[in-house]
Amino acid sequence: MSEFWDAEAATFDDEPDHGLRDPEIREAWRRLLTAHLPQPPARVADLGCGTGTLSVLLADEGYAVDGVDFSPEMVDAAREKAAGRAEVTFAVGDAGAPPFEPAAYDVVLCRHVLWALDDKAAALENWVGLLREDGRLVVVEGFWHTGSGLRAAETEALLRAAGREPTTCSLREDVYWGGPTRDERYLVVA
Ligand SMILES: C[S@@+](CC[C@H](N)C(=O)[O-])C[C@H]1O[C@@H](n2cnc3c(N)ncnc32)[C@H](O)[C@@H]1O
Repeated sequence: MSEFWDAEAATFDDEPDHGLRDPEIREAWRRLLTAHLPQPPARVADLGCGTGTLSVLLADEGYAVDGVDFSPEMVDAAREKAAGRAEVTFAVGDAGAPPFEPAAYDVVLCRHVLWALDDKAAALENWVGLLREDGRLVVVEGFWHTGSGLRAAETEALLRAAGREPTTCSLREDVYWGGPTRDERYLVVA
């Protein structure tokens, strides 16, 4: 499966919500994420980080970010984007069992990856294990018109089963996606 994402890496950022090249879209994500994260400095694990767009955006805001992705091509693109900055690192690895220090993160961030993991409950248990005592999970997910994805109610149930109380906000506004969406799009903090 990582081969699929390797092949996507070169063009991944062409999607407005992936590369965040449009300043208005980038600003919308910056405001959204910083509104749901603790104040910097804080330590963030970005799981399934792709080309590192969110990792670098948060590093720009003063967060220390460690990203992981199982696609070497995605990680190469992320490293290139970060241009050697010390406050953001990227590793090749499994987002379901991240190769990160336990109980060391203020935030575990995951956008558009949980839905694709085989054992979501095991992944969430591992993610909770990465958090400091007052840490939080920030999960951006969707249920796409193609029939793929996770409905918000499913994500909330998974988080409750992992011992976390979810708070969900809808992300249907065009500004996050570069145009109207028919999909169920949301962010959950737990
Ligand atoms: C839709 S992209 C999202 C990328 C990034 N989170 C973002 O929002 O821009 C999904 C990413 O998850 C990665 N991925 C999927 N399953 C994974 C797994 N089990 N472990 C690590 N990475 C995974 C893919 O390689 C891809 O980069």
